[in-house]
Amino acid sequence: MTEQAGRLTVTPVHSHFGARVEGIHLPDLSKDDPAAKELFDELVALQQEYSVLVLPDQRFVDERQMEFTKEWYGPLETQVGTIGTEARLHPNLADWSNVDPEGNGKLLSWSDQRMIYQSGNQVWHSDSSYKPVPAKYSLLSAREVPPSGGETQFVSQRHGYETLPESLRRELDDRIVVHSLLYSRSIVAKGLFRPEQERAIPPTRQSLVRTNPVNGRKGLFIGAHAWYIEDMPYQESRALLDDLLARITTDDCVYEHRWTPGDLVIWDNRCVLHRGRTWDAARHRRVLRRTTVAGDGPTAEPTMATRTPEWDGIVPEGLGVEPAEVPTAAADEVSAR
Ligand code: OGA
Ligand code: MN
Repeated sequence: MTEQAGRLTVTPVHSHFGARVEGIHLPDLSKDDPAAKELFDELVALQQEYSVLVLPDQRFVDERQMEFTKEWYGPLETQVGTIGTEARLHPNLADWSNVDPEGNGKLLSWSDQRMIYQSGNQVWHSDSSYKPVPAKYSLLSAREVPPSGGETQFVSQRHGYETLPESLRRELDDRIVVHSLLYSRSIVAKGLFRPEQERAIPPTRQSLVRTNPVNGRKGLFIGAHAWYIEDMPYQESRALLDDLLARITTDDCVYEHRWTPGDLVIWDNRCVLHRGRTWDAARHRRVLRRTTVAGDGPTAEPTMATRTPEWDGIVPEGLGVEPAEVPTAAADEVSAR
């Protein structure tokens, strides 16, 4: 059912979350226009309520998308270094594209080394939940889309949390999860980072349950980067995270967005998971550009995780906090010197 929120027309896209919003052309919003400020405030209020907003016909070019996001939402995230080419245009702009950056118009298929990192987008995740301060909003702009496939799917981690049994919710409330991009990408392929790139992304601690500061609604905060739960046997915590993900991503919970060029989708990484769907990348162009609004602060402190035996072979030596050693005679002798 469509309703009017001030000057905006709002049509929910799923019974749990998500809305299509019409009546605003973001590239034209000017800070000098008081009416624009009002309209933007309405948009942010809808964002808190619906978590995912679909805005058709937003004709962004790269520069304006970055400028708009920064001007209206605040500081942008800078991308981490990988062997992919997604940061080639600007450190603040993710280029999700299968068009060869060499400029020869060739399409990159999924077997191309440069697409393998990008294929990690096809598992449920929250953008940069592996950073000490995880992302707030992502703004994804569709420039070119394939005739079929290449959709983006979303689920609400609030709905997910709210529908868990009360006893399970109580068990989860104060838990801390260690998130890592090195872990999540280790499942996709080996060798997606150079050694110095790995050293820039140590595992980080996040709350398992987050609360929206405006409306107080709680949600899970999991996804592909969520590695294990602290203070729980590793296998048990992996099984629990897998079980939670399976519960909140059943078909009836998914909003699937079929892209039209010009669409801008803005999602709240604090409370939704998303994933891209595959398409025939060897035959069809798909070009999407994302700006990412930095989060307001960490979800758990300290942010630095303590090394465990599970890190070996995934996280280079020397990253994270070393576990407290049980003192031995030999160590005493060394420290006494
Ligand atoms: C992203 C992302 C998925 C897609 O932009 O953060 O995960 O469908 N995209 O391209
Ligand atoms: Mn993403």
